[in-house]
Parts: sequence; structure tokens; C-alpha cells
Amino acid sequence: MDEIFSPIDLTDAYKVGITTIDREHQFLIGLYNGLVSAVRRGNARDMWDDAFQKLVAYADQHFANEERLMIARKYPDYDNHKRQHDNFIQNLNLLATERANRNEEAALELLLAFIGQWIRGHILITDKQLGEYAKQD
Ligand SMILES: [Fe+2]
Ligand SMILES: [Fe+2]
Repeated sequence: MDEIFSPIDLTDAYKVGITTIDREHQFLIGLYNGLVSAVRRGNARDMWDDAFQKLVAYADQHFANEERLMIARKYPDYDNHKRQHDNFIQNLNLLATERANRNEEAALELLLAFIGQWIRGHILITDKQLGEYAKQD
């Protein structure tokens, strides 16, 4: 397994300062870390479907929450932020298609790379910017 698949510490760096959103991010990071350690233990058989269902439910609820907040606060970067959410959902659908063409381990590695990049990119940058903005009056 590639070194890129390392657990993520939920440090303050990942906190955007909005309780509900932080709790949801924490769930995603927990899901990711659980999968990373299962893969490392060689114990990840049949985990793809469950992880995928959880990701779909997460995206559904969490993106709606952030988008509702952005609209309520007239967030100027709404379009860009929303586009990233939409891309996430599109990519999830692509991963479901890829799943059919790959063995369990390869499919899970793709899924992990996808979630890891999202946490380190979208949450750490785009969501943080939203958090900074929401702190202002
Ligand atoms: Fe988020
Ligand atoms: Fe977001």
C-alpha cells in the first residue's frame, strides 16, 4: 500500500469552527482512517459497498448543510464551492463504475485516494475559507 494512504490526525487545522460542519468532517476523517487501517491490516474485504453508501449519505447531508449556510450568509465564493461539491458527487459515481472493473483492493485504493485528496484539499482549504468568512459578522 502506498505511503499516501496514511491516517489523518484530526487536529485544529481541520476545524472550520462551525460545530455541525466540524462534526460531519470528523465523521468523514474517521471513515477514512478506519478504511486505511483496515487496508493496512489486510482486513478490508467487502468494505467497499458499505463505505460507498456512507459517502453518498455524507455528501447528501453535509453538502446541503454547507450550501444552506453559504446561501444564508450570501457567501461570495458560493459558485466555486458548490461546483467542488458537485464534482465530488460526479466522481463518486465514476468510482462506482470503476468498481465493476477492478478487484476489491484496487477499488478500495481508488476510493481511499479520492477521500484523502478531498480531506486534504477541499476541507483544509475550501471549507476553511468558508469557516473564516462565517466568523465575520
Ligand atoms: Fe465540508
Ligand atoms: Fe464544502
